[in-house]
Amino acid sequence: MSAIISTGEPILDSLARPLRDLRISVTDRCNFRCVYCMPREVFGPGYAFVPRDDLLTLEEIARIAGVFAAIGMRKVRITGGEPLIRRNLEHLIEMIDAIDGVEDISLTTNGSMLSPGRATDLKKSGLKRLTVSLDALDDATFKRINDVDYPVSRVLDGIENARAAGFSDIKVNAVVRRGFNQHAVLDLAKHFRHTGCIVRFIEYMDVGETNGWNLDDVIPASDLVDEIDARYELEAVSPNYPGEVAKRWRYRDGAGEIGFITSVTQSFCGDCSRARLSAVGELYTCLFATRGHDLRDLLRSGASDTQLLQAVCEIWQGRNDRYSELRANGASIPVSGQAKVEMSHIGG
Ligand code: GTP
Ligand code: 5AD
Ligand code: SF4
Ligand code: SF4
Repeated sequence: MSAIISTGEPILDSLARPLRDLRISVTDRCNFRCVYCMPREVFGPGYAFVPRDDLLTLEEIARIAGVFAAIGMRKVRITGGEPLIRRNLEHLIEMIDAIDGVEDISLTTNGSMLSPGRATDLKKSGLKRLTVSLDALDDATFKRINDVDYPVSRVLDGIENARAAGFSDIKVNAVVRRGFNQHAVLDLAKHFRHTGCIVRFIEYMDVGETNGWNLDDVIPASDLVDEIDARYELEAVSPNYPGEVAKRWRYRDGAGEIGFITSVTQSFCGDCSRARLSAVGELYTCLFATRGHDLRDLLRSGASDTQLLQAVCEIWQGRNDRYSELRANGASIPVSGQAKVEMSHIGG
């Protein structure tokens, strides 16, 4: 393999944002059919998931991650679909952990495959942090959302297995959608107080084209802060780092921390340093993009690491995405006729 040549200077996009985070989708498949992400009417039998040969191999993914690390990427998040469906994922994590410059590797999962053995293997592979998606604590609501009759207790078992395997930094992500699970907000807050798990409430977003998103379905995070604060007093906490996605709060009584992801009501594009790699090797520079840039062809046609690096630099330097900010300003985007990519294709 050719040596990667890096100048050591951060690569900036056209809005002067560095590339710090890479979110890697390792599969577009999932064993859930969450109604806001992979609605059964679209992702049912007959849906054309990516054929195995089209997926990047684990080695190809690690090579691309190495190129990104050479231009300043420091954080990697493994996503899907459901990433734990991908066989041998632990090997990928080991390879990424060995890349110079990578400081953090985390994984977002629905928690259904976190058996004690799998959780231990993930810990051993070098995975630092886990985020588990869980939108409600009552089975009726949770099953209505996951649409595969999956019970809450098994996700909670998965979280416990992860903790027992030594993961101390576990987050729980809950998408809040009006009329679906707003009652779950206090349940989740209460359940995870004093556990060390940080629950983050996410405003329901207009990702992709299949979930029938409507602004009326969004509950502003500020309403949720007020609701939780009325029950358990909260105080704001300053960000861990510039561009942190979640706004942090803590319970005044010392019961722990929670967070709010306000992509709709308070966009955070100004500091967005996130690139996304799809399972087929397309680079997306925004969660709401209509197209990705193919790196797989380049990789498979024998490009050197330096050529890959140049391609990635050019894409990043040309980036001017700020979808949430534009949407908040009332701009009509994307251009009609262009479909936004689905979340299950590029990860959250
Ligand atoms: P930490 O590294 O633990 O702070 O995680 P994170 O908040 O960077 O990542 P996580 O995957 O937990 O993000 C939570 C959710 O925030 C995602 O599932 C998305 O719904 C949303 N999100 C993350 N990044 C972006 C982004 O760049 N733009 C928008 N609009 N939403 C994002
Ligand atoms: N809006 C907000 N969050 C979403 N997620 C999936 N679809 C949406 C959406 N439309 C979340 C999932 C998971 C993460 C990968 O992204 O619940 O926590
Ligand atoms: Fe699967 Fe996560 Fe999408 Fe639900 S939100 S369908 S668990 S990828
Ligand atoms: Fe980044 Fe696009 Fe999200 Fe804005 S909308 S924060 S540019 S991914």
